[in-house]
Amino acid sequence: MAYAAKDYSKLIGMEGFSQTLLNNHFTLYQGYVTNTNKFMDALATMLKEGKTGTPEYAELKRRFGWEFDGMRLHEYYFENLGGKGAIVKSGVLEKMIAASFGSYEAWEQDFRATGAMRGIGWAVLYQDPSTFGLCNVWINEHDVGHLAGCQPILIMDVFEHAYMIDYGLKRADYIEAFFKNINREAVEGRLA
Ligand SMILES: [Fe+2]
Repeated sequence: MAYAAKDYSKLIGMEGFSQTLLNNHFTLYQGYVTNTNKFMDALATMLKEGKTGTPEYAELKRRFGWEFDGMRLHEYYFENLGGKGAIVKSGVLEKMIAASFGSYEAWEQDFRATGAMRGIGWAVLYQDPSTFGLCNVWINEHDVGHLAGCQPILIMDVFEHAYMIDYGLKRADYIEAFFKNINREAVEGRLA
């Protein structure tokens, strides 16, 4: 059951994201899909051949989550873009955010600050299904910092490839553009 890269070309034309930047980003994403499949095949072959005790097997196993999360986080990211980003004060999303953060504004400030942290990774708004509570988390690279069992609700890529072509070092300007293009329906659809 190999994974297939999804087509996000409908995002081309989004305000604040050049075609060059998006095409580069789609190509990077496709690389994670290819490698996830490659790792799964290689690990299955090693299992069949009795090579599970080898350092090669251990290192592939260790690296697998990095490739898989690189694939899946990009899918969440591209799928929560392409909307008009408008905040609807009476919306389900904003109400649930306010219940966890005190106000929508406090959440947005915290999410932007999470995305502005030094380093490469992701800002993720998670929902804990055991409390329905929401929380902003920094994911280092693709694989470090995930909350077990929680559902990603809104994902923002802050690797340099996500913005440098268009914004240079001005990550805050990219975050501004990101907010203008949030697909609220997609985000709300992830809420429990
Ligand atoms: Fe990315």
